[in-house]
Amino acid sequence: MSHTETQTLLRGRILDFHAAPTDEMDTDAYTYIKDGAILIEGGKIKATGVYQDLAAQAPQATVKDHRPNLLLPGFIDTHVHFPQVQVIASWGEQLLDWLNNYTFPEETRFEDPKHSAAMAGHFYDLLTSHGTTTAVSYCSVHTASVEAYFAEAEKRNMCMIGGKVMMDRNAPDALRDTPQSSYDDSKKMIAKWHGKGRAHYAITPRFAITSTPEQMQMAQAMVAEHPECFVQTHLSENHDEIAFTKELYPDAPDYLGVYESYGLLTSKTLLGHSIHLTPREIDVLAETQAKPVFCPTSNLFLGSGLFDDGGLRARGIQNAIATDIGAGTSYSMLQSLNEGYKILQLQKQKLHPLRAFDWITRGNAEVLGLSDKIGTLAAGSDADVVVLDSHATHAMDLRMQRAESLSEELFILQTLGDDRAVAETYVAGVAQKNGRATMANTATPAPVLKSA
Ligand code: GUN
Ligand code: ZN
Repeated sequence: MSHTETQTLLRGRILDFHAAPTDEMDTDAYTYIKDGAILIEGGKIKATGVYQDLAAQAPQATVKDHRPNLLLPGFIDTHVHFPQVQVIASWGEQLLDWLNNYTFPEETRFEDPKHSAAMAGHFYDLLTSHGTTTAVSYCSVHTASVEAYFAEAEKRNMCMIGGKVMMDRNAPDALRDTPQSSYDDSKKMIAKWHGKGRAHYAITPRFAITSTPEQMQMAQAMVAEHPECFVQTHLSENHDEIAFTKELYPDAPDYLGVYESYGLLTSKTLLGHSIHLTPREIDVLAETQAKPVFCPTSNLFLGSGLFDDGGLRARGIQNAIATDIGAGTSYSMLQSLNEGYKILQLQKQKLHPLRAFDWITRGNAEVLGLSDKIGTLAAGSDADVVVLDSHATHAMDLRMQRAESLSEELFILQTLGDDRAVAETYVAGVAQKNGRATMANTATPAPVLKSA
């Protein structure tokens, strides 16, 4: 068979999830194979199992030996802002001032297709170097940013979700669209990109504060016209934000009531932050199956508040986890787990490391309704795989000498790990870290600092 020449066998310790495990004894929820392998053909996973079995099944396959590293499904980041790659680590403000002082000025630069294209290159290099193979991103208000975002993803054959932010008030002139132009531009981008290769479109009214009721109606029309698309926005991140939203929409019962009244809540709706929720809002989440998205590093960085993972889960509300770059402070989903663990600690909630790793892979994929394509190592899935080195740093190596279980190893990875622990990332079967010339290597000269 000629196609066997294109088969690849990744060898290493396999960890794959089938449900959210309660602990290490919950062995129905996950598969762990000490000498395992993933057989890849045509960008897809053909089989996952014991190395000896797969090597016998595919004797022609090129073997990439990653032992003793772990092989997991690529990480999924469910809320990130691609135009904020140069906003990350901006000092001193909470949400609304942070948006006005840092974020909005930076996003105006994405009107320029060249700037958008350059930043998209950096963005994808950063995602894959941190082990993330799928992300759900906000672009800027400009279609140039959407074009750059999806064009770069297409080049790399990545499964990416995103959309143009709709925003027609409470922002600088250069960042405001109109209800009609936001509709027309979003429709154009949906027609061009949704379903092209691995791309999915997300209808993206930024948040209630930056959309007039007229723009919300346009978003409502689009959601009705495109049930195949995702919807993403922000919800109840910060107390001043909630108070301002109530002023702007005095007839709404609460913040979520705004989105509810415009028909924006479906099982494909992602609600970034969802921290300060009322009992009625929690009822509406449970009814509509709209998905809260936990953004740990961002919530701490902006001082926004503590996400109630346990409370939402107890109501049967499935949630996702994300970085929220550039309010988030790390591209690493491992670091998102690290900070998420601490946020839950402050509420006396426990995050078991097995559930944590399920969350950033299969769990996030399930929230997106894409777990048949990404988030697991099941046969038929796209071959997006991360290779994790638990000994990557001196501190990790030293701590690993005392680790006695898989759970302990995972906890060390999530607490101490970041891009240094990602030995390799495969996107549709293609290695991204080693051998790929990254934009990050072609650094632009450092600018002269304006002041101390
Ligand atoms: N709310 C509206 N826009 C944003 C944003 O860009 N980042 C965060 N963290 N919250 C928002
Ligand atoms: Zn956000």
